[in-house]
Amino acid sequence: MKRVFTGIKATGDHLHLGNYFGTIVPFREHTQGNDAMIWVADLHSLTSVHDSGKLGANFHNIATELCAIFDDEAITIFRQSDIRQLPLLHWILSTITPHSLMLRAHAFKDAQAKGSDLNMGVFTYPILMAADILGYDIEQVPVGKDQTQHIEFTRDIAEAFHRAYDREVFTMPEGVYGDMPTLPGLDGRKMSKSYDNFVSFFEDEETIRKKVMSIVTDSKGVDEPKNPDECSVFAFIRLFGTEEEIVSIAQKYRTGGYGYGHAKLALYDMIMRYSVAYRTRRDELLKKPDIVRDRLDRGADLMNARMDEVMERVRDATGL
Ligand code: TRP
Repeated sequence: MKRVFTGIKATGDHLHLGNYFGTIVPFREHTQGNDAMIWVADLHSLTSVHDSGKLGANFHNIATELCAIFDDEAITIFRQSDIRQLPLLHWILSTITPHSLMLRAHAFKDAQAKGSDLNMGVFTYPILMAADILGYDIEQVPVGKDQTQHIEFTRDIAEAFHRAYDREVFTMPEGVYGDMPTLPGLDGRKMSKSYDNFVSFFEDEETIRKKVMSIVTDSKGVDEPKNPDECSVFAFIRLFGTEEEIVSIAQKYRTGGYGYGHAKLALYDMIMRYSVAYRTRRDELLKKPDIVRDRLDRGADLMNARMDEVMERVRDATGL
């Protein structure tokens, strides 16, 4: 039994398909027989969301959606900001993290290149993520490939700590990466909240339909043959279709007489079919917020106890 852990930022209003296939599906593959934890990274979201109503609503939606997807109560779900000693561990780790390491961070460099309004939280984000992972003796972290550097940093930071204090305090985590290619968004770029090009199972049906119909394709007419491998709509059909559907639609693309509009309608139906149980359960949970709140409270109790244990060792090592 391994400790497996991952997190989702509460930056968007809903879990979107990028989160789902990039993080949730690989995480779920590793929950079986393991001690699995997933949480909503609301402290990380503070680097970009400075609106209390929005942060609160996003958190509430995403926590409810996670509970709907992970019906099995053996999976721990919790809220990052409920963990009392996390900011302390973040600070302690920042005092041994080499500045030169942080200067290599891709995510920060990208944010800088975009000319975004940068705060220190964007810069120290990987250290908080290292604290998230090192604070609970986590062994495996299922994440999307875009998080590779963050996992490497976490290991580098743990090693820097071990060198500085000449003892092994932290469990060395390993990243486990799904084989999922980065999901295209509606506009063909990576699906992301920050590009506003996402679709979620949890939006209303009309919004999902409109979004699916707006997926960008080339301008080939109905009759022309098309290449399924170069089409975002087909990339989604691969995820949601049955084997037969995938083969038969690929065939229709190649022969022609099948337009992108047809493919989008087929995709919409597939998404609805795939997510019906999640949406039904989410609707039930919205009517019973106590179930979600109790689950998060239990998660916080367990995870606080776990971090307290690790922090004993950290205090001992540092002399605090
Ligand atoms: N950085 C992750 C993302 O953007 C979210 C995250 C924060 C995380 N802390 C984590 C993921 C710890 C795994 C483990 O998706």
